Amino acid sequence: MKKVAILANGGDVAGFNAVIRAIVKTAENKGIECYGIIDGYNGLLKNDYKLLSTDAHGDAVGILPKGGSIIGSSTNANVFNYKVKHEDGTVEFKDLSDVCVQNVKNAGFDCVFTLGGDGTQKSARDLSLKGINVIGVPKTIDNDVACTEITFGYNTAVSVAANAIDRLHSTGETHHRIMVLEVMGRYAGWIALESAIAGGADVALIPEIPYDINRVAEKINNRRKRGKNFSIVVVAEGAAPKDGKLTIIGTRNNGSGVDNTRLGGVGQVVAKQLEEITGLEARNTTLGYMQRGGTPTAFDRVLSTKYGVKAMELALEGKFGTLAVMKNGKVDSVSLEDVVGRNTEIGACSGNTAESNIRKVSMDHDLVKTARDIGINLGD
Ligand code: F6P
Repeated sequence: MKKVAILANGGDVAGFNAVIRAIVKTAENKGIECYGIIDGYNGLLKNDYKLLSTDAHGDAVGILPKGGSIIGSSTNANVFNYKVKHEDGTVEFKDLSDVCVQNVKNAGFDCVFTLGGDGTQKSARDLSLKGINVIGVPKTIDNDVACTEITFGYNTAVSVAANAIDRLHSTGETHHRIMVLEVMGRYAGWIALESAIAGGADVALIPEIPYDINRVAEKINNRRKRGKNFSIVVVAEGAAPKDGKLTIIGTRNNGSGVDNTRLGGVGQVVAKQLEEITGLEARNTTLGYMQRGGTPTAFDRVLSTKYGVKAMELALEGKFGTLAVMKNGKVDSVSLEDVVGRNTEIGACSGNTAESNIRKVSMDHDLVKTARDIGINLGD
């Protein structure tokens, strides 16, 4: 193995650079050149890449605590169904994956490390079926990649959300308000549930448990009876009421085969309903991209480094078409087929649909039991 490349794709997370650094360092130790593909699958298509090194003035120096991705990322590049704009303004979707395959061959990359979530890994799996050596590393703040206990970036998102809950506590308590915090996570409730426990919230509404707003109001009123005139409600962006629908901000136009739904707005809906039912003032805060940006937690730095090292180990062993994962607390690997094989409705780039093979919060998970046992209302 002489030359490898790293491709970061999908919505950014804290920890991207830590993975990149770990791969570059382990490659250098083995005398392997490591390249960074610029802007995810877009760069693979445009043949845009640069050498990464940890030499004094190299691009991969000092990047461990840095947010974002030093090689960019793309959320709108499904090379199997790529949006091509013609000069006359018309748009066409084309399968340009063979261009990527040729670019990898021309560059002489012995392996491409694909850092990304479900969509990214699905494209990686499809490229591996066309003969490209790929190894995936599971990234997303949503923590919803199948076959792994944790994705890098998730812990930082939870930590940002927990800090926000701490801050909402003091302002909520001062003004005797219901403070709602809407967090990300798409169709999985990991961020909402874990940050609610970490921040001591009173309610956590997650996509896996359709909520009854009256049960939430009951919880808040019970707190009031005990002299607690404020409450903290964490709502996952993908939470929906019983017999109700997801709240959607809009759509994006990344092509068919990709989840184009932009989730958002449920926090505002919940705040308004709770105000009406309880008579208490309610305010919503939508945390948004704060959860993705900035420096990774120490946990994410270590996890990302472990994943980067494992990915290179898999490459050296020739175990291509796999994803580095965490299994029973240990770094391990699974085939990409197991991870994304069942996802027929996503194409690439960011996002999953509600039906895809994502890892959701299961009702027997420790976090659910822990939340219930300390009295966090889950909306049911
Ligand atoms: O998948 C990561 C994520 O941040 C989700 O939590 C969120 O729904 C989505 O990406 C936002 O995507 P975009 O960057 O396209 O707005």
